[in-house]
Amino acid sequence: MQNATTPAFDISAKTHNPNAGLRGNYARMAADYTVPQQMDDYSAAEQSRWLRLVERQLALIPGRACSEFLGAVLGNPALDMRRGIPDFAQVNVALKAATRWQLVGVPGLLPDDVFFTHLANRRFPVTVWLREESEFDYIVEPDLFHDFFGHVPMLFTPIYADHLEAYGHGALKAKQLGGLDWLARLYWYTIEFGLIRQQGKLLAYGAGVLSSPKELLYALESDVPARLPFDTMRSMRTRFLIDDVQNTYFVLDSFEQLRTETAPDFAPYYESLRAEGA
Ligand code: PHE
Ligand code: FE
Repeated sequence: MQNATTPAFDISAKTHNPNAGLRGNYARMAADYTVPQQMDDYSAAEQSRWLRLVERQLALIPGRACSEFLGAVLGNPALDMRRGIPDFAQVNVALKAATRWQLVGVPGLLPDDVFFTHLANRRFPVTVWLREESEFDYIVEPDLFHDFFGHVPMLFTPIYADHLEAYGHGALKAKQLGGLDWLARLYWYTIEFGLIRQQGKLLAYGAGVLSSPKELLYALESDVPARLPFDTMRSMRTRFLIDDVQNTYFVLDSFEQLRTETAPDFAPYYESLRAEGA
């Protein structure tokens, strides 16, 4: 995703190189990799940058984000991102009431098992630091803007919130079964780059799309990429690009479809994918 605000991170980078070239401060974190969010540490320049990132993206999402995302961002006072960098403790009061999820501050990318254990316990790790000015249009790993703007609004939707918890459990299981590379693709094509059709209109719900001006327009409006009906196995067979817009997007009919299609035991899926060499 060159020149996009989408962090071109790879869940398998998160996974396999937890300490390779990471820029956050991992020195004073807890055993579960969480760190306190120090609101006073954000500078005036960071607050200004945050507001500019938020305004740019808010201008693009009407008519492009799914109804759940728009409803949360535009209708929920706890998600009024124009007030400045959000205080996770305040957001958590509303989020707990909505779906029993909680945000936890983290220094950046996490080892896979740590990340999935948070999800399985309805905790969403949010990077505490904001990108530099020179990264306004493009950043190579998730920062506060991607994590918060992209991911947090959807956590207010119960069916999505339940799915993400189930994904956390499923990923811990996939790790045992050697299926994580495939399940990471599912995450990529749903949670990060997922599209959905609502009232006949193609819209975005994936965090990587919603936090990137370039990819939001590309994913929805360009003639170049393929847009396939969501299919679990096909998504797990499809390799993804970590540093450019995607060649392929998968389109849901509903979040109910995501729940139904990911409900079966994936162990036999991993067997088939292994046999195919996917
Ligand atoms: N049903 C999957 C399994 O048994 C787990 C899963 C749930 C995966 C939700 C993704 C999303 O492994
Ligand atoms: Fe993300």
